[in-house]
Amino acid sequence: MKRVVAITGASQGMGLAAAKLFAQRGWVVYGGARRVEKIPTEGIHALSLDVTQAKSNQEFVAQILEREGRIDVLINNAGYGEYGPLEETPLEKARKQFETNLFGAAHLANLVLPTMRAQGSGRIINISSIGEDVFTPLGGWYHATKAALRRWSNVLDLEVRPFGVRSLVVQPGGTQTDWGRIALENAETNSKPGSPYADLVQAIRGLFSGDSPVASATSEDLAEVFYRAATDPKPRYAYFHGTGDRLMARLARVHPKLWIRLAGVLLARARRVRSPGGPGTPPWWPRPPGD
Ligand SMILES: NC(=O)c1ccc[n+]([C@@H]2O[C@H](COP(=O)([O-])OP(=O)(O)OC[C@H]3O[C@@H](n4cnc5c(N)ncnc54)[C@H](OP(=O)(O)O)[C@@H]3O)[C@@H](O)[C@H]2O)c1
Repeated sequence: MKRVVAITGASQGMGLAAAKLFAQRGWVVYGGARRVEKIPTEGIHALSLDVTQAKSNQEFVAQILEREGRIDVLINNAGYGEYGPLEETPLEKARKQFETNLFGAAHLANLVLPTMRAQGSGRIINISSIGEDVFTPLGGWYHATKAALRRWSNVLDLEVRPFGVRSLVVQPGGTQTDWGRIALENAETNSKPGSPYADLVQAIRGLFSGDSPVASATSEDLAEVFYRAATDPKPRYAYFHGTGDRLMARLARVHPKLWIRLAGVLLARARRVRSPGGPGTPPWWPRPPGD
């Protein structure tokens, strides 16, 4: 029987790699993005999609259901990082970040659920991030959307499981895509001239630069993880690419003070700063609360 997958954000990065992988493995693949012309049409049905627009989401799902009559997997992958100092980032940009990374995903899920419930099967795979647990300066709004996506996904899973449907999360770590460039560009745009947070922007530039050691995985690696989440006979709540990502997320969730120290060292290295106050810890790095 044919299996149908819909993937958002399929014009580049992990979404594109996943669309190609599912197509190679015999699935009927629908990929959506704003830059629909970037989605290759070989083995992939390319559809125009802006997840922040209700009408666009409705048309995306309606076209799939009209043509296929079913949908087995929805991969909510479209997303980006609205980085910038929280004090200086306009709230309208934060709202747009939530519209894309959370509400777009929720709307699409609502649109496919009646069909999945009627089928008695289906999976909604939500592409979160280790950033739902691991936090750094300037990533505040991004981390907030991914943490919210996780909790929303967990509750949805409780509600739809009795109908044979699952809602699961994938938590990628640093991956070689355009994501870092976009996040850095946003961090720079969102910092005001003469910003007191300029040092942090410089540190983040080191972390997100093209040859950054934190982006060790490839889009193709993550596509395999998406595929595992879509087909695992015994689904997990959260999927990671590697043990390192899993451990880092756990460390930040369970031992936030330790994580703050480690993040300070990583950022200082990235910025190539050596503080006179102590090796690797720049003077602007906050002491963990209670220290
Ligand atoms: N790369 C990483 O290190 C990393 C780590 C953790 C989590 N993630 C998450 O993984 C997912 C994929 O990211 P990526 O690394 O593959 O980034 P990417 O290469 O920048 O791809 C992002 C995709 O999202 C699409 N998109 C953005 N806004 C959209 C909108 N309003 N409507 C429809 N599509 C939209 C883009 O397509 P158009 O611009 O053509 O619309 C693009 O295809 C994201 O949710 C990201 O937050 C990435």
